[in-house]
This record gives sequence, structure tokens and C-alpha cells, in this order.
Amino acid sequence: MAQLWGGRFTKETDKLVYNFNASISFDRKFYKEDIEGSMAHVKMLAATGVLTDDEKKQILEGLESILADVESGKLEITSEYEDIHSFVEANLIRRIGDAGKKLHTGRSRNDQVALDMKLYVRREIVELKELVLKFISVLHGLMKEHIDTVMPGFTHLQKAQPITLAHHFGAYMEMFKRDYGRLCDIYERMNYCPLGSGALAGTTYPLDRDMTADLLRFKGPTLNSMDSVSDRDYVIELLSALSTMMMHLSRFSEEIIIWNSNEYHFVELDDAYSTGSSIMPQKKNPDIAELVRGKTGRVYGALMQILTIMKGIPLAYNKDMQEDKELTFDAIDTVKGCMALFTGMIETMKINKPAMEQSAKNGFTNATDAADYLVNHGVPFRDAHGIVGRLVLYCIEKNISLDDMSLEEYKTISPVFEEDIYEAISLKTCVEKRTTIGAPGHEAMEKVILTNESWLSLELEKGDGHE
Ligand code: ARG
Repeated sequence: MAQLWGGRFTKETDKLVYNFNASISFDRKFYKEDIEGSMAHVKMLAATGVLTDDEKKQILEGLESILADVESGKLEITSEYEDIHSFVEANLIRRIGDAGKKLHTGRSRNDQVALDMKLYVRREIVELKELVLKFISVLHGLMKEHIDTVMPGFTHLQKAQPITLAHHFGAYMEMFKRDYGRLCDIYERMNYCPLGSGALAGTTYPLDRDMTADLLRFKGPTLNSMDSVSDRDYVIELLSALSTMMMHLSRFSEEIIIWNSNEYHFVELDDAYSTGSSIMPQKKNPDIAELVRGKTGRVYGALMQILTIMKGIPLAYNKDMQEDKELTFDAIDTVKGCMALFTGMIETMKINKPAMEQSAKNGFTNATDAADYLVNHGVPFRDAHGIVGRLVLYCIEKNISLDDMSLEEYKTISPVFEEDIYEAISLKTCVEKRTTIGAPGHEAMEKVILTNESWLSLELEKGDGHE
């Protein structure tokens, strides 16, 4: 049991209490951030005269050697320490002696852990953004490729009107652009440095908080030390954004599962992204999409956990907040895995254009357009709706589509119909005539694709312009 406190205690900590309290099993994940934060702190302490240049040099070299040894595997982070902060400090003292004991001057583990968590989450947001952007690029490519691939659009999972696959993918494009935007917003809002807030009330040392904020590439220092050590809003915001993203991935997964079924056969998942059954040799299952749909619950769960953890905490730091880590790490890792796999899955799946087009043809998806035809010939819409309803009933009885009816048949139901009805209700016309921005018509989609293209190249150019 190695801990940083004990001076005022007369008894050893109970072993069970020690284990219950310890966080090393999970906060070891941000050893790099912990060392990076300590380095900035020490540089600032020397610049403000709290430490000598020689002490700074010794501490920095010591921290660098610890980092190198952890990375190479020479130094193992073991559970003999209470947390990652104790691990680093104990090893530093072991390596450089007395100077190491000065590392924690003007700092508390409260502002230290607040910093570590922020640095960790900030770095992960950059990686998440890259994954979302990669996914958006794949979607963009598919939209360009399928601008004329006709399929049925659904409401209530009932065929409604013909659309294109580009239009369908375009809906997800909008969702993920918003997801991406949320990650950018969170990054901006959280990007202030808590280091120097001490336990809760700052310190009496002449700390230069602007300097540490600068060294750690923050926009500036946070403005209230009590808030700084107990703010986990950015975790809540991130988990909320990730929950929304998983909800989008889950909806998309559901569609892929339906489209990949024998009944629809709109798409066929690549063998590399499908799994077999141990008993039924014919099966090729969409397990990846199902798992993404299933894992959504884990991320929602993390959001509920952190909201619940934070709801009763009086200012400032309380140990409850140690519980923020495992759930955040798990949610981030889950989303990263899902994003990467889902991207590969849709990038490699085969799209069955004839099946999509056939499906659009045989579900009366052009019924609205038949009614619009009548309206264009002077029939009030409500009457037109009734006439086309009768046409559909007639077709269902004869098991044919609207396109298969003869002009005589049309005319017995309404004399307004002429030869040009066939052209007016062809799938091509139904899609093409929808040219308002946001609609599936070729012209409208081209404009949207162009807008997306400039958005995408701008974002790709920025790269991780945050750092
Ligand atoms: N392990 C703690 C956490 O994750 C670090 C901060 C400890 N501070 C304290 N006053 N015990 O929150």
C-alpha cells in the first residue's frame, strides 16, 4: 500500500478500504497526461522562482525517464500504488531523491486529476472527430455513386414515395455532420486549464496559470477554482454527444439489418463483416450491425451514470467524482470501435440496385404522383386522393401496379387521365420532379453533394487544427 498521505493517521488503512478507495486500476490509463501535466507545472514553478532551475532539470529528466520506461514496458504500473499520481511521484522520488519531493508544491490531486481527465478527454475528442470524418467521407462517396439509384422511401416502415439511395444516405450525412459539430463545440467549451486551482481555493504560491495553460495548449486558465476541481460538465456533454451518435449508428444498423434480410435483399454485407451460424450452414448474419445497435445501451448507461454521480455533489471536490473515469473510458472506446467497424461495413457492402428499384415499383410509391397528375389537370386534391385510392384498390385486386393499367382502365375510374399518365408516374419522373433543395431529385441532390463536398474538404484541411 503506497499512498501520499498518512502523517495525521495513527492506524494503517484497512486493506478492503484501501482497495475500495484506490483508482490505479483505471486511472493508469492517463499516465501520459499525468506526466505531461506535471512537466508543465514544474516548468512554471521554476519560472516563478518557486523551484530552482536545477530542481526543474532534475524533475523533468526524472519524469521523462519514467514516461520512457512505462512506454517501453520496463516500468510497470502496479496496484501497490493508490493512484497514478502516487505512482509517478513515488517513482520520481526513488529516481531523483529530494528534488522529487517538491513536484507537488502548489498542487492538489484535485486539480491534478481534473487536468488529467480533461487532457485525456480532449485528446480522445480529436480521435473521435477523425473517425466521424472518415465515416462521413465514405457516406459522401456512396452518395455520389448512388445519386440515381432509385429505392422506396418509407414511413411507418411502409413504402411511401420513391427516393434515391443517395437521398437516404444523405439523411445520415446530416446526422453525422451534426454529431461532428457537437464534438467541435465541446472541445471549444472545455478547453480551459484547471491546473493551479489547488484543492479548491487556489494556492498561496505565485503560480502563473496562464503559463501552464499555454504550455498545455489550452485557451486560458479556468476562472473559478472551486468549479475547476469539480466540473465534469464536459464529460456529461461528451457522453450526451456520444449517446446521440450511437442512436444514429443504431438506427442505421437497424436499416442495414432489414436491408440485408432475405426478404429485402437491398444490400449484401461483405463476408469479412458477417458471421455464420454454428448450426445453420446457410446463414450469414449481420452481427456487427446488431452489436452496434446493442452497444448503444452501454453509452446511454454511461451518460445516466455520470448525471447521477454529479447530481448531489456539494462544492467542491468529492470522491464520488472518481467514478467518472471507467464509464467515460468505456463509452469512448465503445464508440470508437463501433464507428470504425460500421465505416468498414458500409464501405464494403454490396448494393443491390435492381432489388431496390423493383421494390420501389411494386409498392404504389407513385400514388401521390398520380394524384398530383389529376391536380395538374384541374381536379381538387381531395377528389384526386379518392380517385387514386380507388385505382390502388383496383390494382391490389388484380395484383398489378399503377404502371400496368391500360388507359381504358384508367378512364373508367376518371376520364381526366390521358396517355401522358405513364410518363407522369414513372419512377424516374417521380424522383426527378422533386427538385426543391433537400428533396431526392438529381438536380437538388447535386447541389447538396457539392455543399457537403466543400464542408468536408474544409474540415479535412483543418485537420486537428485544435492543437
Ligand atoms: N483518484 C482521485 C479521483 O479520481 C484523485 C483525486 C483524489 N483527491 C482526493 N482528495 N482524494 O478523483
